[in-house]
Amino acid sequence: MMHLAAFLFTPGSHSAGWRHPEAIPECDMEFAQYVRIAQAAERGKLDTIFFQDTVAVNGSAGLDGVQGFRPTQARQAYLEPTTLLAALATVTKHIGLVATATTTYNEPYNIARRFASIDHISGGRAGWNLVTSQIEDEAGNFGADHHMLHAERYERAEEFYDVVAGLWDSFEDGAMLRDKASGNFIDPSKLHHLNHRGKHFSVRGPLNMARCPQGRPIVTQAGSSDAGMELAARTADLVFTAQSELAEAQAFTSDLKARAARHGRDPAHVKVMPGLMTIIGRTEEEAQAKYRTLQTLLSDANAMRLLARLCGDLDIHSFPPDAPLPPLPPSNAAKARQQHLMDKAKRENLSIIQVARYLGTSLGHQLLVGTPASIADSMAHWVGQGACDGFTLMFPYYPTPLEDFVELVVPELQRRGLFRTEYTGRTLRDHLGLPVPANRHSR
Ligand SMILES: Cc1cc2nc3c(=O)[nH]c(=O)nc-3n(C[C@H](O)[C@H](O)[C@H](O)COP(=O)(O)O)c2cc1C
Repeated sequence: MMHLAAFLFTPGSHSAGWRHPEAIPECDMEFAQYVRIAQAAERGKLDTIFFQDTVAVNGSAGLDGVQGFRPTQARQAYLEPTTLLAALATVTKHIGLVATATTTYNEPYNIARRFASIDHISGGRAGWNLVTSQIEDEAGNFGADHHMLHAERYERAEEFYDVVAGLWDSFEDGAMLRDKASGNFIDPSKLHHLNHRGKHFSVRGPLNMARCPQGRPIVTQAGSSDAGMELAARTADLVFTAQSELAEAQAFTSDLKARAARHGRDPAHVKVMPGLMTIIGRTEEEAQAKYRTLQTLLSDANAMRLLARLCGDLDIHSFPPDAPLPPLPPSNAAKARQQHLMDKAKRENLSIIQVARYLGTSLGHQLLVGTPASIADSMAHWVGQGACDGFTLMFPYYPTPLEDFVELVVPELQRRGLFRTEYTGRTLRDHLGLPVPANRHSR
């Protein structure tokens, strides 16, 4: 059985999808649209919805040499994801609720508290997508002149995770007595200080919250560099990644699971779910026509701006767009994504503008254009070949492509016995087949 997450990047993961006649671009700020999207994903019995996050307006620091904001650029404003999850927990019953929060521009105590609250509010469906922030514009909103260096971001993230996981174990099960007769409200023997002192943080604890319904919220990650994979192997329950080739995905998944085993973990308890954008038609022609329509909406300028963000100090705008992608200097933003693009460009002999448009179409993730049957064939093949445990679904715009996936592809996967027909568990851990972690103090 495969696992499916819906990656919700409003108003769409395709850079110009919001211009499609069917699209509702207001879905970025209208709660009613988020409700429609979340309930559609739950109708499809998906494991979880997952919100990305960036704590800045893209391009606001003018780092890619383009001053000012481009009027045609979408994905600039959206609701803060953990606030959104708390609200969506009240209009959904089963679907997992994952939100992104950066370890570079947050404090662990606040993050532990926020996600534990969502786990309590949702009855055990919360997840934290731990990122170190790939968007360098964020630094200026937190008193920093420059974005923290990649290696330091991950060093901080390792310690950040340890503090959060430690705080989530503050209250053991049964610590909250609330015994009116004796007047004892808590059992002090089941409440624990953390007393963490490290290079980046000093946190006494305990967290002021009873133990979570899931033991602790699940942790997801999306870093694919060596540092990113090491952190994921030690800490993540679910790993998002950009893989567009079967062999590439097989190598990534087996490497990550081997690393998890080296950290003493069961490799089956780390789910790898690469990004996948689908453009669905009831016929192949219909799907191709939809794809062509979308591509006519995508401007080269916007696509090039996305690529420029992954080119470090190199001014990619100074190269002829039809030239091959030059070797790119190290990026302080997203290392693995940059490598992924360079490998793809070399393998497929792509020009600069072709790479940029690929990025503008699916953010550098796999794209499948086809019928429900052809899309299900490819998904089944990847899972069957051990390339992944499922997929992180992306949609060019909302809500129709998500609703089409739920109404057309999910039944095809269910008919083949590859996807659940009903939620059988209560929590996100149940959906993912993950055990409840023991509390370090209760062992
Ligand atoms: C599916 C997916 C979703 C992501 N969502 C976010 C996000 O919401 N915010 C963010 O700062 N980075 C996000 N990232 C980027 C990663 O956190 C990470 O920075 C990137 O993969 C590069 O990691 P690396 O430098 O370890 O290769 C996402 C990546 C993937 C694959």
